[in-house]
Amino acid sequence: MTTFKSVSSFGNLDRKSYKVEDSIAQIEKSKKGKNIIFGGKVSSDTNDDLIYIGKVSENCKGSDYFNYDTWLDTKFPHVIYITGARGSGKSFDLGVIIEGISELNEKSNINDNIEPITSIVIDTQSQFWTLGHKPKKNSRIPENEMQLEILKKWNMKENSVKNIKIFIPPNTEKFLGTEEEITIRPKDVLTEDWCALFGQEVYSPQGHIIAMTLEYLDGSNYEIQDIINYISDESNWDNESEMSRNALTYKFDDYRRTNLFNSKGTKIEDLLTKKTCHVLMLRDLRNEDKSLLTSILSRQLFNKMGKMQTEKKKSAFLEKDYDGEDLPNKVWLFIDEAHVIAPNDAPSPGRKALREYVKRGRDAGLSLILATQQPSAIDSQILSQVNISINHRLTFDSDIKAATNRLPSKEILSMSVNGQNIKNFGDMIRLLEPGNSFISDSGTSRSIMIQIRPRISAHGGYSPT
Ligand SMILES: Nc1ncnc2c1ncn2[C@@H]1O[C@H](COP(=O)(O)OP(=O)(O)O)[C@@H](O)[C@H]1O
Ligand SMILES: [Mg+2]
Repeated sequence: MTTFKSVSSFGNLDRKSYKVEDSIAQIEKSKKGKNIIFGGKVSSDTNDDLIYIGKVSENCKGSDYFNYDTWLDTKFPHVIYITGARGSGKSFDLGVIIEGISELNEKSNINDNIEPITSIVIDTQSQFWTLGHKPKKNSRIPENEMQLEILKKWNMKENSVKNIKIFIPPNTEKFLGTEEEITIRPKDVLTEDWCALFGQEVYSPQGHIIAMTLEYLDGSNYEIQDIINYISDESNWDNESEMSRNALTYKFDDYRRTNLFNSKGTKIEDLLTKKTCHVLMLRDLRNEDKSLLTSILSRQLFNKMGKMQTEKKKSAFLEKDYDGEDLPNKVWLFIDEAHVIAPNDAPSPGRKALREYVKRGRDAGLSLILATQQPSAIDSQILSQVNISINHRLTFDSDIKAATNRLPSKEILSMSVNGQNIKNFGDMIRLLEPGNSFISDSGTSRSIMIQIRPRISAHGGYSPT
């Protein structure tokens, strides 16, 4: 157990240009030192299970927390929603949180006393592999050198995630050499997934043919080719139209050729190594395939983890030792550019599975961290479960409305920036610089402006590759 120190071990921000008029009625604040906590309660003055995410960057009359250290409590599962325009700091935040929950190569003041949490990262732009690397001086990336300077100012040391496993889909060129291949087992794909992929209703002629085929193949470890063979064999069908069957065989053949499917494909256990960050580099996949892969993975996650947690509770109740599968207690799933995976305007396999994941995931020890540049494009049922939001700069009205609709606490009503008064929260969001944000949770009476801390590992999103 470690306790908060009375003095911050991090450097101070020197900018004081945001003056908020709305007072803060409720905030989780440590008795010792200048610390505030999001996503949990200050029960005793320890910082167990807390990860460091930044500093309060606003001033406020009457309840001023400027420069207070800001922590995220990782004891219980969360659904965290990060929004912001391109280049505003979203992927950077995901990295900050992953660094916090992971085992690091060297001891760090950002996660003093945490039990490392297993994570899976849906990396839609292939930029998170750098978490395993320290930012280095003299490298050809000037941003890394700048990062080292900023780290010094914040009193933090460069570091790297200790256990990181990188996965890539087939047909993608390896560039690290250590990547493992990720493929989907056809038997893990449900009728409803295929239907969502093919833009068909489950109760349509094609949906019916898929359901019949999977029912026949159920119990075997089949390949896509087996699906095609069954559908194209006339003797298996009476009234189903040849046109529907042909349409399906073309679609399945398209998927067969991606090599994304394999009966010996990835099992969910392969992504559940304890204390390990599993990065799925999916940039080269089609968006619908990113969605499919995420759906299968998240469904298997809550099935497997849910079963384990139920077994554990039962054993505890009966005062027996748990002797089931040895899986991690908690898993955090990160999805960058989440509008691609779970859009609100079209059925997608990811949307349905993630709805269930957020509704049932908490009991199974599962967290979800979503980032998007298009908050208005994300499925609203998923967003209804958000308990912490981090809002970076946005510009479009529709996106600002969508983001502020989901705040777990109140907006700010009045703020002065360099002497100019602003009375609209959307306009405040328009002004944010990269890394500066408003954070909200239900334990805090209104949104608080915080500057997210610098990254301790190399950030992979500096320049597009
Ligand atoms: N907390 C931060 N501290 C310092 N620089 C940051 C911070 N957040 C973002 N940046 C800068 O902004 C750039 C874009 O951030 P990134 O998270 O990649 O944007 P996006 O919102 O598009 O994912 C980063 O490369 C970095 O230079
Ligand atoms: Mg990004």
